[in-house]
Amino acid sequence: MEETQNKILNRREFINAFMGTSILASLGLFFSYFLRFLFPPIRHKRYRKLYVTQTKDIPSGKSLKVKDLKGQSINIVNTGKEFIALSTKCSHLGCNVIWKDREKKFFCPCHDGYFDAEGNVLSGPPPKSLSSYEVEVVNESIFIHVDEVNLGNA
Ligand code: FES
Repeated sequence: MEETQNKILNRREFINAFMGTSILASLGLFFSYFLRFLFPPIRHKRYRKLYVTQTKDIPSGKSLKVKDLKGQSINIVNTGKEFIALSTKCSHLGCNVIWKDREKKFFCPCHDGYFDAEGNVLSGPPPKSLSSYEVEVVNESIFIHVDEVNLGNA
């Protein structure tokens, strides 16, 4: 009789200990997610430097269209003062913008949107500037910095 009661007590103790441990583990997991929600980890953007071309290949006032590693088109413009890299996707509905040499502007044929050489909206429906990329010129070589997230390597 006493032995049976001991077994029952042991079983109860085991179940209580198991439930206590489970509740503590659940609370610990909950608080760790809650803390992550309150203080999300800081992720620094990582860029990859891509070689584009030589400076002599883009005369002043001209543009060169290149593709990044993911196949997205980028316009490199020589404004005469600097090189600027801009996405070819219009900020309105994503049509491809075209560089107009004579006017030194980007034109979006879908809804007659215009952007200046730095990608700022001049007229039309686009709500914001063209996305830009950082450009670096080293020893006459042009490089652009592409966000690694856009390359799918993050
Ligand atoms: S998509 Fe470019 S102006 Fe509408």
